[in-house]
Amino acid sequence: MRLGYDKKDFEELGIKIPVNIRLSKKINAVLVAGKSGSGKSCSGRWYIWQQLYDGESFVYIADYKAGEEYERLELSPSYASGEHAFEMINEFYAFFTEVRNQKIRLRRHYTLFIEEWFGLLTYAENISKKLKTDLMSKVGEILAVGRGLNIGIMLCVQRADASLFSTGAREQFQCILSFGRCSAEQFRMLGFSGELEENPTIHYKAGEALALIDGQDSVKEIIVPLIENEDELSNQIFYYLCKQPDIAELRRTVAGGGRAAQ
Ligand SMILES: Nc1ncnc2c1ncn2[C@@H]1O[C@H](COP(=O)(O)OP(=O)(O)OP(=O)(O)O)[C@@H](O)[C@H]1O
Ligand SMILES: [Mg+2]
Repeated sequence: MRLGYDKKDFEELGIKIPVNIRLSKKINAVLVAGKSGSGKSCSGRWYIWQQLYDGESFVYIADYKAGEEYERLELSPSYASGEHAFEMINEFYAFFTEVRNQKIRLRRHYTLFIEEWFGLLTYAENISKKLKTDLMSKVGEILAVGRGLNIGIMLCVQRADASLFSTGAREQFQCILSFGRCSAEQFRMLGFSGELEENPTIHYKAGEALALIDGQDSVKEIIVPLIENEDELSNQIFYYLCKQPDIAELRRTVAGGGRAAQ
């Protein structure tokens, strides 16, 4: 999956050098952080599209906010908005638990994409404290153990505060993207260190980010292309989501020994 293009080469030379990761048993957790309007959702949709188009991963989307930009996906069983977002996370967790308990070796990768983690948790907390802690521990467990199982999480959040993650969960992300302007405090929370990240003169625009990727030598500054035809992108995402096994189907297949889910 292409996270974006190297910012420096693009700006200075007009050359697009891709910055890539491949979702796998090794890289399964991606954090997309940034203030409101920094380009998380636009970039996130491009990432979802790529995962589906390239067959890199199946994707299951929990979007409590029911963003207008996701409206086209409402009829897909792999997309859940409002309170249904909780069910999507619970179902995905149940799938993950079955895979783990039965030691099923998945050949394909499965991603839970969570939009607006902070908003989702606040929404959950207003319903009950237990719902919030339950969601945090389920997501924390997938982050901690999903590696090696081919099951992962891509999570969008405005601020990566410690209170939003169960103990140690933040450290499980092998790929961290920080979009737009970011305070030094946030950079530290995200695990960035060094001059580039803490230089207060760097202000990224929407769609520009710092990328910290496990196994890649240094922090990279990237630019994500702006997708002009959002409707067509959503149409294509919808098309691919309809072709993949829906979450209920996954549960049934793992319950039956997992062969069909592999
Ligand atoms: N790659 C990009 N290049 C240029 N502009 C972009 C890019 N991505 C997003 N933008 C601009 O930024 C706006 C906000 O983007 P987006 O909705 O993705 O932000 P967000 O981080 O998800 O915000 P929120 O936290 O409020 O949901 C877009 O409507 C678009 O105008
Ligand atoms: Mg958004």
